[in-house]
Amino acid sequence: MNVTDFEIIAQLLKERSGLALNKEKAYLLESRLNPVARKWNFSGFDELAQAIRNRGEEALLVDVTEAMTTNESFFFRDQKPFDQFNEMVLPYLLEARAARRSFRIWSAACSSGQEPYTLAMLLKEHADKLAGWRVEIVATDLSNEILDKAKEGLYSQFEVQRGLPIAHLVKYFAQVGDRWQIDESLRKMIKFQQFNLLGDLSILGKFDVVFCRNVLIYFDMPTKTQVLNGIADRLPADGFLYLGGAETVLGTTDRFEIMQGHRGIYSLASAHAEKAKVAS
Ligand SMILES: C[S@@+](CC[C@H](N)C(=O)[O-])C[C@H]1O[C@@H](n2cnc3c(N)ncnc32)[C@H](O)[C@@H]1O
Repeated sequence: MNVTDFEIIAQLLKERSGLALNKEKAYLLESRLNPVARKWNFSGFDELAQAIRNRGEEALLVDVTEAMTTNESFFFRDQKPFDQFNEMVLPYLLEARAARRSFRIWSAACSSGQEPYTLAMLLKEHADKLAGWRVEIVATDLSNEILDKAKEGLYSQFEVQRGLPIAHLVKYFAQVGDRWQIDESLRKMIKFQQFNLLGDLSILGKFDVVFCRNVLIYFDMPTKTQVLNGIADRLPADGFLYLGGAETVLGTTDRFEIMQGHRGIYSLASAHAEKAKVAS
């Protein structure tokens, strides 16, 4: 691949998904885009690159963008954040939202669904306390292909062995051939929707809790700032933001601060929380 091809494709990816690709990752382009070249009957990577250079048809550019996303995910990823949700965030919401008996959670880069389904299972375990409540889980991702998998809720043996407690597997999944499908009652708890984090976040409404985990790592600093500030606008004064283990708000935005003693969870920084209170 020549330098111009790399730069043109990297620019396209940055514009369409926020992915910041440096030259050391050039090998990734060829390995991930070769299957796209085959699907579109190009003779090889060079012909695909030529079509991208000419800004070929939209469906091709979508395939290229989706092929470059990393969809790695698993149930109860890192465990601790979900323990904290169970032990701190959920009890807080049950008390703080008791008057309106509703809250909304956003899984902002949900990939194949393990993150929102983990939340659905946790909520289901508290079904007695949540009786009569309206709880919405909105799960979004850039990639339609991965969202189709998420909606189906069908997982391989390997996927259900990563992080999912056996008791939950037995309780919430049914075996379908050599795979496992999550129960329809859990699938119904989640509203899956295609959404690009570079877009206008306000169309999604407000959320009490946002999980934006393991996606900001792929963005450059200005894009991280833009997305985090957009999320801050979606939260009430006492909202919660979850980031991935390798992600932080430090040096990116002053609108969030880490919740003392709760690694990976952020609240609005006090000055901004005051503004959010006034605005609500
Ligand atoms: C590594 S997965 C993270 C999944 C899950 N949040 C977790 O922590 O296990 C990253 C996901 O971000 C999605 N993604 C990448 N860029 C995006 C964008 N601009 N808008 C929305 N989703 C994006 C990818 O399609 C991919 O499914």
